[in-house]
Amino acid sequence: MDFSKLLEIAFNFREARVLLTGVELDIFTLLSEQEMDLQEICKELHSEERSTQYLLDAMCAMKLLEKKEGKYKTSTEVVPFLSKHGSECMLPMLEHYANLWHRWSQLTDIVKGKTITIKPVDQMSSDQLKAFILGMHVLALRASKPLLKKLGTVPYKKMLDVGGASGTYSEAFIEINPQLQATIFDLPPVIEIAKERLKDSPYKDKIDFYVGDFYKDELPSGYDFLWLSAIIHQNSREQNVDLYKKCFAALETRGVLWIRDYVMSEDRTSPKTGALFAINMLVGTQGGGTYTFEEIKEDLNYAGFKNVHFKIHGEQMDTVIEAVKE
Ligand SMILES: C[S@@+](CC[C@H](N)C(=O)[O-])C[C@H]1O[C@@H](n2cnc3c(N)ncnc32)[C@H](O)[C@@H]1O
Repeated sequence: MDFSKLLEIAFNFREARVLLTGVELDIFTLLSEQEMDLQEICKELHSEERSTQYLLDAMCAMKLLEKKEGKYKTSTEVVPFLSKHGSECMLPMLEHYANLWHRWSQLTDIVKGKTITIKPVDQMSSDQLKAFILGMHVLALRASKPLLKKLGTVPYKKMLDVGGASGTYSEAFIEINPQLQATIFDLPPVIEIAKERLKDSPYKDKIDFYVGDFYKDELPSGYDFLWLSAIIHQNSREQNVDLYKKCFAALETRGVLWIRDYVMSEDRTSPKTGALFAINMLVGTQGGGTYTFEEIKEDLNYAGFKNVHFKIHGEQMDTVIEAVKE
């Protein structure tokens, strides 16, 4: 690692901060609808002229905006992602990242032992929760289809989507497995968001909802397939053992559990994305992290599962582990 690479890493936050401020001010939606000069933009944003100009010019340098004869507009290529009317709008996810920014800035203090107050999902403000859940939807929409294509079709009939958020994976599973009937299990305010998002889904008749808290409540039972996607990293190993026991009880004999998450190498240093995600959990949860295959297997075995093995092994949050209730 050389001098300039170190500088680059240390100063990486600049572009992230400029983009996230643009998202917080919703500049990209504003300037995707019309081109405007600095004074018009300041009037719309109720912002200060010098700072706004520096921000807008940096956005131009980053190719997020274009500037012609003193007028700014959102670059055509980012409109689909950064305008709230865009076809692949990423704003909810980026709003969630803007919230994470504040937590990451406390990392040094946390490492020195400072305890921080962490709001569980059901205590987030309704705006934060919506940003988080719809952000998950945007990510899952992109990731689910290629992942499920790799996994192939399944022979199961009744699927429980534990922590299923607004049901993006349930829809993707049903799309390629039309025999499936899915239940989304999630917290009360999330189920409300799911019902709203799915009311026009072509699969709405194949999806039902179950309100619950998997830390306190049992899961509904009678399923031959459980999907536990992007959940285990929010938990400590003890919490995961408790959850796996509930999953075991929810499954019929010969039913299977699939877990999607990061799975770390034995020394925990790879994949890099998983090691950095563990920090995201350190600053954002009480006991979450990313786990090795051996840890996950041991916890699943402890809860009663057998035949724990990889279905697919990826570098992102695209590893899937299967466990069987024999
Ligand atoms: C990271 S998101 C994953 C969403 C979805 N499974 C996916 O892969 O895109 C975590 C989900 O777990 C839900 N969740 C968190 N704590 C929960 C709890 N105690 N009981 C039920 N659901 C919970 C959240 O509301 C959220 O929908």
